[in-house]
Amino acid sequence: MQTREINNNQKLRLQPLAMPQRLLLGPGPSNAHPEILQAMNTPPVGHLDPAFLGLMDEIQSLLRYVWQTENPLTIAVSGTGTAAMEATIANSVEPGDVVLVGVAGYFGNRLVDMAGRYGADVRTISKPWGKTFTLEDLRTALETHRPAILALVHAETSTGARQPLEGVSELCQEFDCLLLVDTVTSLGGVPIFLDEWGVDLAYSCSQKGLGCPPGASPFTMSHRAMQKLQQRPTKVENWYLDISLLSKYWGSERVYHHTAPINLYYALREALRLLAQEGLENCWQRHQKNAEYLWKSLENLGLSLHVEREFRLPTLTTVCIPDGVDGKAIARKLLDEYNIEIGGGLGELAGKVWRIGLMGYNSRPESVDQLITALRDVLPI
Ligand SMILES: Cc1ncc(COP(=O)(O)O)c(C=O)c1O
Repeated sequence: MQTREINNNQKLRLQPLAMPQRLLLGPGPSNAHPEILQAMNTPPVGHLDPAFLGLMDEIQSLLRYVWQTENPLTIAVSGTGTAAMEATIANSVEPGDVVLVGVAGYFGNRLVDMAGRYGADVRTISKPWGKTFTLEDLRTALETHRPAILALVHAETSTGARQPLEGVSELCQEFDCLLLVDTVTSLGGVPIFLDEWGVDLAYSCSQKGLGCPPGASPFTMSHRAMQKLQQRPTKVENWYLDISLLSKYWGSERVYHHTAPINLYYALREALRLLAQEGLENCWQRHQKNAEYLWKSLENLGLSLHVEREFRLPTLTTVCIPDGVDGKAIARKLLDEYNIEIGGGLGELAGKVWRIGLMGYNSRPESVDQLITALRDVLPI
């Protein structure tokens, strides 16, 4: 047998890796902290090496801290935020369960699609993109649908809105349902008190508020959620994300489940360590302060923001594209000429907003200054 030659196009790509240096101010990923990238360079050990198992324990403790939870079952899923999202659904939804999803953006819709694929009888409560649900809205929907699970997106990355969660778990207890929350764009950057708020299932990602590359995603579940899992008559329909199997790897048994992405776990451990060193409250305050500086600077340029101030996320800001301005062309110019990435709108907000992330390491006044200087140059105002 003769090996086939590499065709010319592929040959050209056999140069050593050379990627542009960008300031990532879109909806994610954000730039990783240099110390985290350095930690990733550490030569890998085996995934059952006692040193690595110790690191996994540290990740669990640190995750409990950043989420403010005592849940024993708090781990990182090997995969991006969507994998952790799917882990919450796969392990809590049994075929026929009524799952009520709050949809006020793109990721609410993803939860709807995912829950449906696991056999849920999905019901929705909707709001225009950029708005949030009140306790009254949720009470009415719970009364109507009597779900087994209520799923909400704490930080809707497609709109920049923060869904308040205070008081929701009291409703869930009254209507005897589990509370599942997406904290992908809030973990590390927005106050979260998982236990105080009575959240039963939550997931996040590494590449936003934690300032880490993507690929190792936080997941947690409460005793109540665990009980539902233990009582289900059928197996979880996703082998890779089955928590009863994964918990044997993360727990004391240390049974092989999959080969963990060792270097990503190094990175996650360092990201969490840096966050703990800064202090959770300081980190939240830094995100808030830099977001307020961004909002003021954008408004000084004559731009307006899509979300009402009270519900604005400090991690992700949606900026209305002025009439007559080609939003895509401006974003492209920022990327090509200034090496700055910002995001465009999704779904209902496509073509209407830009999405600007200030997350993790990137939540600094210098990021704002760099962006505003570039915007001043490229905007036709
Ligand atoms: C709110 C929300 N949920 C889920 C996800 C999915 O995460 P990932 O893209 O890391 O798979 C994202 C990604 O941006 C998100 O913003």
